[in-house]
Amino acid sequence: MLKATLIKAATEAGKLMKSRMNTGFSIENKEGINNLVTEVDVACEKLIMDIIQTEFPDHFILSEETGEVKTDSEFKWIIDPIDGTVNFAHGIPICCVSIGLEKNGKVLMGAVYNPFLDEFFFAEKGKGATLNGTPISVTQKNDVYASCLVTGFPYSYLDSENGPLEVFGRLIRKGVPVRRLGSAAIDLCWVAAGRFDGFYEHKLNAWDSAAGFLMVEEAGGKVTDFEGNPYSLYQPHIVATNGKIHDPLLDIINNR
Ligand code: IPD
Ligand code: CA
Ligand code: CA
Repeated sequence: MLKATLIKAATEAGKLMKSRMNTGFSIENKEGINNLVTEVDVACEKLIMDIIQTEFPDHFILSEETGEVKTDSEFKWIIDPIDGTVNFAHGIPICCVSIGLEKNGKVLMGAVYNPFLDEFFFAEKGKGATLNGTPISVTQKNDVYASCLVTGFPYSYLDSENGPLEVFGRLIRKGVPVRRLGSAAIDLCWVAAGRFDGFYEHKLNAWDSAAGFLMVEEAGGKVTDFEGNPYSLYQPHIVATNGKIHDPLLDIINNR
């Protein structure tokens, strides 16, 4: 029932998102500039929460636009109704619904649906990751300088040592292709599917990565913070790779 509800919520919200693309919806700014929320984010979030709460009224919910609906449940749904909102607002079809389900603080399942490519990624702890039902796995590339990477940049620039532009500069000076798709959940799924060898980002929230990080792990990859510690959704840094380029990429990020 948990899995069926997860799949239903991601599928229905994806369909709604697709039907509303380029339809003149209202757009507002959150804190910072260009940190957008559209009325479609809110509508998709409501749809997802209604589906989950109909089945599991006592479950904890953490969702980007609503925040926390706290309960004592061991289950926590972590929702990004549209990951890639800036893309969505500009009619760029690289955006998705991302939903992760935690049990006792560990992500148990995740679903990421990009309705524009009709790509549904699903992972379950210990049971692998799939794209439209077919198992996926990370690449075998072991040379970080021969890799194809993806990253994202925060809405407000982090002017810190080893910040986003410094790391990006180090990589592109070496000629490493580093893409910027605009959806962390899709970035992670595309690492899981072997389209990218690795992904890193300096400032993510739990809802950006809850489903995608499990996707990478279940596809055979590795996910950590910038120190190489096991990944936690509740801190900002993420490095997610095929495993083989992980330590060299950490060295580049930390300028070692
Ligand atoms: C954003 C996207 C983007 C990442 C930002 C996120 P949103 O999420 O995942 O790729 O670089 O850090 O905030 O705002 O589109 O849900
Ligand atoms: Ca997001
Ligand atoms: Ca979002």
